[in-house]
Amino acid sequence: MTMIVPAEIQRVSAEIDAFFDRLLTVPDDGRARLYDAMRHAAIGGGKRLRPLLVTATCALFNVDRARAIRVGAAVECIHVYSLIHDDMPCMDDDDLRRGKPTVHKAFDEATAVLAGDSLHALAFEVLAQPDTHPDPYVRVELIAELGRASGPAGMAGGQMMDLVAETAAYDLTAVTRLQQLKTGALIGFCLEAGAIMGRVQPDGRTGLRGYAHDIGLAFQIADDLLDTEGDAQAVGKAVGKDAAAGKATFVSLMGADRARAQAEMLVDQAIRHLHAFGSEADLLRAIARFVVERDR
Ligand code: IPE
Ligand code: IPE
Ligand code: MG
Ligand code: MG
Ligand code: MG
Repeated sequence: MTMIVPAEIQRVSAEIDAFFDRLLTVPDDGRARLYDAMRHAAIGGGKRLRPLLVTATCALFNVDRARAIRVGAAVECIHVYSLIHDDMPCMDDDDLRRGKPTVHKAFDEATAVLAGDSLHALAFEVLAQPDTHPDPYVRVELIAELGRASGPAGMAGGQMMDLVAETAAYDLTAVTRLQQLKTGALIGFCLEAGAIMGRVQPDGRTGLRGYAHDIGLAFQIADDLLDTEGDAQAVGKAVGKDAAAGKATFVSLMGADRARAQAEMLVDQAIRHLHAFGSEADLLRAIARFVVERDR
């Protein structure tokens, strides 16, 4: 069943690359280096899981594909910005990302800060444009949700907890909260965005939210497992970083075997949350499996 995922990743990757190619046209002035740095980070890499989740959810509600791609590109802008800053010397200090040198290595630290800042801002600019959705209420709801998912109550807050996790005595409850913010919030946005674009009323979103919650955690457990057991060449980034930093993760607290079992349990639970949907949700079901079976 997960067979369909690589083909869908390929399709959405090409569309996101084309979108970024247009969005990030390099100007012939002193900003060229900034655009080059954004292009380096945003084009031609990554699994594009978040845009894939947006398009797969939008497809449930027959949302126009070009609009879905715009929302997928917006969340990918936030994700790429978060990776650029996450790799900087003041955070994880990494040299390799998506199989290429990190932005501060290929360019410099100041450019990396500005490339992250710029992608952060572009995400909201893209959502605000009428091409994303003709109804301004829909656009505002998307903007509000992405803001919440990215900021101190979402990804950035989770990143703060993650830094603290190197020294604090976090238990499983604290690590679960950390991961829900750091990784889960943006994944949650992807499903929510599909429901917003599809004009699904809030009480009809419960199943999608449950699914997002469970695959978000499973996805981060897989990331932690790849950090302990993965191959740097395959994953395209350094491994063994969490243990070296003494970071509390699912794997450090539960051990690899229990963490893997937990991730698989979460995937089954995620799929059960889609019970109200028929075959139109098969791609979301396959993505749930892919999240834990992936090797990169
Ligand atoms: C890595 O995300 C960082 C986390 C939030 C765990 P991905 O594993 O989605 O990275 P790319 O986009 O495929 O490079
Ligand atoms: C970073 O988490 C998640 C972000 C929000 C960027 P990690 O530090 O575990 O991500 P990797 O392992 O470097 O991709
Ligand atoms: Mg980190
Ligand atoms: Mg990192
Ligand atoms: Mg990691």
